[in-house]
Amino acid sequence: MGSPVLTGSALTNPTLVSEQGVGHRRPPFFFPGVIDEYSRIDGPVIYQHPLAYLLGLDGIALLRAFSGVYDRDFTLARLREIQTLLDSAEDLGDGVEARPITTREGYDRWAPLYDEPGNQLLDIEQPIVREILDGLPVGVALDAACGTGRHTAYLASLGHKVIGVDTSPGMLVRARDKVPEAEFYEADLHDVPLPDDSVDLVVCAIALSHVEDLGPALAELVRVLRPDGHLVLSDSRGLIGDIGLPLVRVGPGGEFGYMPTYARLASDYLAAALPLGLQVRRCEEPRTPSPLLGDDGVTLYDGARLPDPVPGDPPYIWSLHALAVEATNAAWRGKPAAIVWHFQLSAA
Ligand SMILES: C[S@@+](CC[C@H](N)C(=O)[O-])C[C@H]1O[C@@H](n2cnc3c(N)ncnc32)[C@H](O)[C@@H]1O
Repeated sequence: MGSPVLTGSALTNPTLVSEQGVGHRRPPFFFPGVIDEYSRIDGPVIYQHPLAYLLGLDGIALLRAFSGVYDRDFTLARLREIQTLLDSAEDLGDGVEARPITTREGYDRWAPLYDEPGNQLLDIEQPIVREILDGLPVGVALDAACGTGRHTAYLASLGHKVIGVDTSPGMLVRARDKVPEAEFYEADLHDVPLPDDSVDLVVCAIALSHVEDLGPALAELVRVLRPDGHLVLSDSRGLIGDIGLPLVRVGPGGEFGYMPTYARLASDYLAAALPLGLQVRRCEEPRTPSPLLGDDGVTLYDGARLPDPVPGDPPYIWSLHALAVEATNAAWRGKPAAIVWHFQLSAA
């Protein structure tokens, strides 16, 4: 069997592809690639233990029960489950430490498979973004952090003249193939190679969670936006509130790396956007489908059954869920998968 590789979002339900075809799922840390070692960037080393994730799910489930959402039987079942999980700690294996890697490196390695089907986050976000774009006047559009050109292609199909920027050359290769009529630049969204007031619409989708400080990023997007122009943002959300789930990947040298992500509150976007003259036209927080899993541990989104977790590998949460189905469904219940904003810049 060939090495499976990741598709989909790090923050939602990634599908892995092997010689067995799309939909065969494996943990997301087998990557083809030629880099010798992840480059070093500043940031904390994180420690991910499979038991920590599972006990965390049971903890969230218990808090929900404590608040009255679930009953006594549910609570006692969770307490028994915690004991069982603790007893099986050895079978689950040790945790892993991972150090931060750049998004350029992370997405370059992901690019060949980013567009494969099975990415629940994109499936949840995309219809809302498209509905907003459908209602906007056609003009010059910037797709900031365009990735493989998912929204770039849609903007072009609507008749916009589109410019895409992204820091990952690998993602840009895919975008250029997909949307040959668009203009693409390898550039950071903090430093867009366009003049002031030069675009009618900016889209920035599922990228700001990689940006530590929203203020300067939004200021740069607003700089290139003409007065009255539109800004459409989308982003992934954390598991609960501000708890993100960074995905650990194995580099070719066997070292573990993760792309830092910053989960934030809706009010954080407002605090950054409103002082820049952006006015809210729409805000949606689409939820993860609930329940997430069937009683047999199958992901209801696509009916896929994941292989068992592999002790010693970085914890793959989508495999771990099957070990605590009720707790998973309770913890993920009602959780927003994404946030989508439509802002309009004030007239000059
Ligand atoms: C999850 S992908 C989303 C791609 C695309 N916007 C979409 O929604 O399909 C995140 C993208 O953001 C890009 N990215 C992350 N930080 C960036 C930055 N500071 N400047 C430009 N691109 C960035 C990554 O390279 C990656 O292509």
